[in-house]
Amino acid sequence: MRAYWAWSATRTHRSLPYEENTGSNNLPGERIRVFQNDRVLFFGHPIAVVVAETMEAAQHSARLVEVTYDEESPTTELEDGTPDEPTSYARGDVEAALADAPIRLDLTDNLSRNHHNPMEPHATIARWEGDKLTVWDKTQWVGDGAQAELPAVFGFSRDDVRVLSPDVGGAFGSGLRTWLSTVIAAIVARELDRTVKLVLARRQLYFNNGFGPAYSYQLTVGADRQGRLFATDHMVRAETSSYETFSEAVLSAGQMKYSTPNVRQDYRTVPLAVNTPIWMRGPGAATGDHVIETAMDELAYEMGIDPIELRRRNEPSEDESSGLPFFTRRLLECYDVGAREFGWGQRDPEPASMRDGDWQVAVGMASALYHIAVPPAPARVRLRIDGTALVESATSDMGPGTYTSMTQVAADALGITLDDVDFRLGDSVMPATPPRCGPMTMASVGSAVQNGADRVRREAIDLALNDPVSPLHGADSADVAVRRGRLQLRDDPSRGESYRALLARATAAPGSRPPGLHPARGGDQLGLVRVRRMLGVYDAARIINPRLADSQAIGGMVGGIGKALLEHTVTDHRDGRNVNANLADYLVPVNADVQNLKAIYQGGRDDYPDPIGVRGLGEVVICGVAPAIANAVFHATGRRVRDLPITVDSLL
Ligand code: MOS
Repeated sequence: MRAYWAWSATRTHRSLPYEENTGSNNLPGERIRVFQNDRVLFFGHPIAVVVAETMEAAQHSARLVEVTYDEESPTTELEDGTPDEPTSYARGDVEAALADAPIRLDLTDNLSRNHHNPMEPHATIARWEGDKLTVWDKTQWVGDGAQAELPAVFGFSRDDVRVLSPDVGGAFGSGLRTWLSTVIAAIVARELDRTVKLVLARRQLYFNNGFGPAYSYQLTVGADRQGRLFATDHMVRAETSSYETFSEAVLSAGQMKYSTPNVRQDYRTVPLAVNTPIWMRGPGAATGDHVIETAMDELAYEMGIDPIELRRRNEPSEDESSGLPFFTRRLLECYDVGAREFGWGQRDPEPASMRDGDWQVAVGMASALYHIAVPPAPARVRLRIDGTALVESATSDMGPGTYTSMTQVAADALGITLDDVDFRLGDSVMPATPPRCGPMTMASVGSAVQNGADRVRREAIDLALNDPVSPLHGADSADVAVRRGRLQLRDDPSRGESYRALLARATAAPGSRPPGLHPARGGDQLGLVRVRRMLGVYDAARIINPRLADSQAIGGMVGGIGKALLEHTVTDHRDGRNVNANLADYLVPVNADVQNLKAIYQGGRDDYPDPIGVRGLGEVVICGVAPAIANAVFHATGRRVRDLPITVDSLL
């Protein structure tokens, strides 16, 4: 212990040899600021670390540290900050169109600051061997995230750091960046020349690991007498930190979801004395969808048009932000299926008209769109001499079942059983992938696994055809299929041999090169709200594994219940402290909040974006949930609550 105190006494920002932050926007790949100067940028910014042999000794010792500092008055409230320069978008003439619009709504939504709250906290083990660093870390981005960011701090090459993250116990976006705690663990391990483990306590997760920023969103809507949108005017304000600018895709729903000739948008981040926000559950889109979908509901009521019918009247025939056609857009079919399966037609649209005993019963709906992205990703596929396959890609599995789905894809493409596929992820020595974020992992990494496995299967078939000893010698490759690890003629399965027999003869297994992916183209009086049942209908193209898809979809609905009704980080603006920094006071849905949730998939394939035919379900599954609940709350009460979360007190 003494030695460590001596260390902490002698090492300060004046003597630690790491580089001062440049002050630029240091999103992944640039430097992190910790122990670099004597400024405290936000409540909870780490100023010291105490290391001990036991957790108790470390915690006790940390309490003995006395800190003196000069106080400043932080600005931590969105409405008090000075906005940055805007990101703007415009088409048509909003001013003129609004002046002419027979129907006009002026709305302001305030969405709360939220924290991710995965079950597993952020945690790091750091070990140096000479100048080589290994970290076991909670991350959604082992390769170009953590493996790129640590070298930027320490000034070494990327090859000198290995990042391992085989299992992630939930993240919801909080693992998309390498946070200060990871860097601190690495610094301390280096200074002490010992392996160091640093696990954040739940409370600490509310100060240093990003958050979903609070939003203020003013929307003006102009429509004609048929309910067709004329014009929308969007003024968006969002929290960011004083030292970095974080922005997200909040504007796209307003640009292309519904046909609107005149659109104007102004999105400004507001620097505050907080740590930098990060993507969280349907990042950006869930905010845009909430505001627009509750506005559509309000417009429907204003005009006496059924909310689904109103959306039909505003269905665009192309992406009006780009003028490009949609590859496929089956939103109208989703409305049909959803309305039929949920019994939308039995709803009496009159607010507060349906009762069940003491409860008002109500039904609401909303739609959601989420962009798909298929960035190139590599996977390495090797067929081993025993006929099993090793498939590797440095992606992450924070819960959606990536191990399982990738195993399925590889097994299908290679023609072997699931048991014979050994799929591994979460290690920076594997081929580096984009971050595990958005809906893209199934499309991007899945396609890489499929392409790689296809190539290996073809190479193995060619090997057999060219091998005079093989029963398949001289056959046409188009006639050969692989079933349960056996290469055989489609018309005559008796003629063939196993991978195992083939490879036993071959000197080296095929497929050692990493095949890259090349995407093909491109309670009434109490105000208590209970969600009795929820139905999501998704046009997500091919579903690789229905159970995992359900897990995503139901998870999105649960997250949406949290966003709509429960989640809210409360800040004491005198000092910027988040006061409900624990799971007793920061409410997330529990089993009692989650009743009958169901998902339906429209199925089919979408072969435009990726060769595997999927679109991915991440994010879109949450985006429409909060507005559907908010719209149901209106239906139940006749009161439009425009702020999230919708709490009991807002309905009293
Ligand atoms: Mo998701 S917010 O990209 O983890």
